[in-house]
Amino acid sequence: MKDLDEREERKDALKGLGCSRKRVEDARFTQGKGNYIDDVNLPGMLHGDFVRSPYAHARVVSIDTSAAMALDGVVAVLTAKDLEPLGLHWMPTLAGDKQMVLADGKVLFQGQEVAFVVAKDRYIAADAVELVEVEYEDLPVLVNPFEALKSDVVLREDIKDEKEGAHGARKHHNHIFTWEEGDKEATEQAIGAAEVVAEEMVYYHRTHPCPLEPCGSVASMDKVNGKLTLWGTFQAPHVVRTVASLLSGIEEHNIRVISPDIGGGFGNKVGVYPGYVCSIVASIVTGVPVKWIEDRMDNLMATAFARDYWMKGRISATKEGKITGLDVHVTADHGAFDACADPTKFPAGFFHIVTGSYDIPVAHVAVDGVYTNKAPGGVAYRCSFRVTEAAYCIERMIEVLAIELGMDAAELRRINFIKKDQFPYQSALGWEYDSGDYHTAWDKALKAVDYEGLRKEQAQMLEDFKAGKSRKLLGIGLTHFTEIVGAGPVKNCDILGMGMFDSCEIRIHPTGSAIARLGTISQGQGHATTFAQILASEIGLPADSITIEEGDTDTAPYGLGTYGSRSTPVAGAATAMAGRKIRAKAQMIAAYLLEVHDDDVEWDVDRFAVKGAPERFKTMKDIAYAAYNQAIPGVEPGLEAVSYYDPPNMTYPFGAYICVMEIDVDTGEHKIRQFYALDDCGTRINPMVIDGQVHGGVTEALAIAMGQEIAYDEMGNCKTGTLMDFFLPTAVEVPNYQTDHTVTPSPHHPIGAKGVGESPNVGGVPAFSNAVHDAFRPFGLRQSHMPHDHWRIWKIAQTLGLHD
Ligand code: CDP
Repeated sequence: MKDLDEREERKDALKGLGCSRKRVEDARFTQGKGNYIDDVNLPGMLHGDFVRSPYAHARVVSIDTSAAMALDGVVAVLTAKDLEPLGLHWMPTLAGDKQMVLADGKVLFQGQEVAFVVAKDRYIAADAVELVEVEYEDLPVLVNPFEALKSDVVLREDIKDEKEGAHGARKHHNHIFTWEEGDKEATEQAIGAAEVVAEEMVYYHRTHPCPLEPCGSVASMDKVNGKLTLWGTFQAPHVVRTVASLLSGIEEHNIRVISPDIGGGFGNKVGVYPGYVCSIVASIVTGVPVKWIEDRMDNLMATAFARDYWMKGRISATKEGKITGLDVHVTADHGAFDACADPTKFPAGFFHIVTGSYDIPVAHVAVDGVYTNKAPGGVAYRCSFRVTEAAYCIERMIEVLAIELGMDAAELRRINFIKKDQFPYQSALGWEYDSGDYHTAWDKALKAVDYEGLRKEQAQMLEDFKAGKSRKLLGIGLTHFTEIVGAGPVKNCDILGMGMFDSCEIRIHPTGSAIARLGTISQGQGHATTFAQILASEIGLPADSITIEEGDTDTAPYGLGTYGSRSTPVAGAATAMAGRKIRAKAQMIAAYLLEVHDDDVEWDVDRFAVKGAPERFKTMKDIAYAAYNQAIPGVEPGLEAVSYYDPPNMTYPFGAYICVMEIDVDTGEHKIRQFYALDDCGTRINPMVIDGQVHGGVTEALAIAMGQEIAYDEMGNCKTGTLMDFFLPTAVEVPNYQTDHTVTPSPHHPIGAKGVGESPNVGGVPAFSNAVHDAFRPFGLRQSHMPHDHWRIWKIAQTLGLHD
């Protein structure tokens, strides 16, 4: 017993896996000591700002920069003509398309970059932007993807005659690609023969990640040494270095990319933006550093949007509710250039996770990508590559099917869940789910909220409403989602040809502390805290003695970066594997020091002890010192390791979310009475960090479902380009969240962990939306598009005849 207590004490002292260790980053963040991109100030630095298009579609007749150039303090004004000789007026996109860096002959969306002004300070640059005179000739605007596919108006004149795109045949001059998965014929047969079929158009509106800190970069070309240093808000610094090298011709070893502290990313900082290219060119031209920082309107109107998926679903079932087939056709509005951030092979990301948590025997999905006059760059706003669209689609289709069957939606889910003993589960759309126990999670969730009690209360409220005693309805929003996170494997997933592995390099110092560098980059997720915890458990040094460093390509091993909740599944695995290499070498050193054979020592929390004689041991701290001060026969000095980890599969976290919402029929206002979020992300590294991730993610889901949107008028004017119009929830709107968990480890991850960062966004959106729909279900509501702001909820009630 004493031994056990003592071992537990040693374990606790490490603050390893499972410990709610306080975030080490917060000391600097809460004391104003963060080092964000706008904190980078270099001697002689110039500032850039963009002239942007007021039109959504127009020909650029002329650009007159003379008045701007005459302004005191203006150093240069770049246009496409200046970039053309360098071959930089267009750039490749992550999706295999190309995008104008600066308007080349025409503009295709409001806010598009037309010219880049470089001046001595940001204010002069902004003033000079006003002095650049651009003559436009407006062209017909297409903001509706269905109309764009029929229209004679050619948006992309540069490729109008190309019949093949990066992802196969193009059917129309405004069509980008068609991508399909699954068995179309078998699905049609299943749906055709089914007893019950539910069909619905589910729209997931255009929105934007809107991180607290907008995008920016500082480029500094050292012409003497031929070195370019680029600081930026990059979620994938190594990939940016490779792209910068390919575009500029500067050899990769002469480029150093640094992502300092990043104030939120959520996908917005994955893409490559014209601002990065222009700041680099301007620094090369002027020979001094050039900074470019977006303002909020630039960020909302011109950097990568998210979603904008029109999903036509058909789901079939037996009378008893067993699902027999699913077909989904998506019309995907990609805006002016296809700059979506997805692995190369998957132009619709991992949308084919759309079968969700359900055992659906046959399924088929097809996605058509379409050009419109909107901003480019669909990103995975806190979800892995279109997974939230897929989760929203299936979770809405389940609700619609429940209506069609006259069934309780919780029961419909239960009878269709993939069962625990079916894992690893092969989905009809080609994924192999690694592990899951959905029934346990579901039962726990329903019990926690007293589901039966809630339904009774809902029925009573409905009765009171019908009797004229109250004007409130209750909605119970159910969701069971399955996420797919952790791209690779390399054989399936690449970004611009770079396989999606990740990496960790560890150096143990002689005194028993360490530094670990990773290919990922935190944007607030707490990597410095949690990756040290993985290592503490693997190598037996306290997490407090381990520094985690990310984001500097001169020091960190090559990695594919942080998005799609891939850090834990991929770089977290690399960290554990590198730790194991350290331990393997440490075992040899310990055996030598203890004068026994390697096989005669065993690992015990923070030490190697002689088997059967635990009082004879060497701690990791002892071993670290010996690695540097003893000549050990057959063993190199030092204690370092590196791991490049290619995951064998992705991980499949899941969760059960329930939102209980009261709706005021007369005003359209809603009150979230309860929000319960059960997450299963396998082995939990830091429960407190996970809770933080869930709180943040559900808050973003609340924003998306209940008000946030990037909306355009028919002229292509962005109507929500400021925070006056783009909804960001504050403490007033955010409810109290109740978090919970089950633990179903991933069988292939070295520590059994799955990602979690994005789950709450994926699960949260359908939970909020389903609550709104559920409240109006008794009055015949099947589908109403998000965001469910008060006006739209009021409108539902109006349409259903519930107002006097
Ligand atoms: O890639 P990203 O960091 O955005 O997402 P993630 O891998 O899901 O990790 C988000 C944060 O949650 C990190 O600090 C992880 O270490 C932590 N986490 C955890 O404590 N336990 C898990 N099973 C998964 C993530």
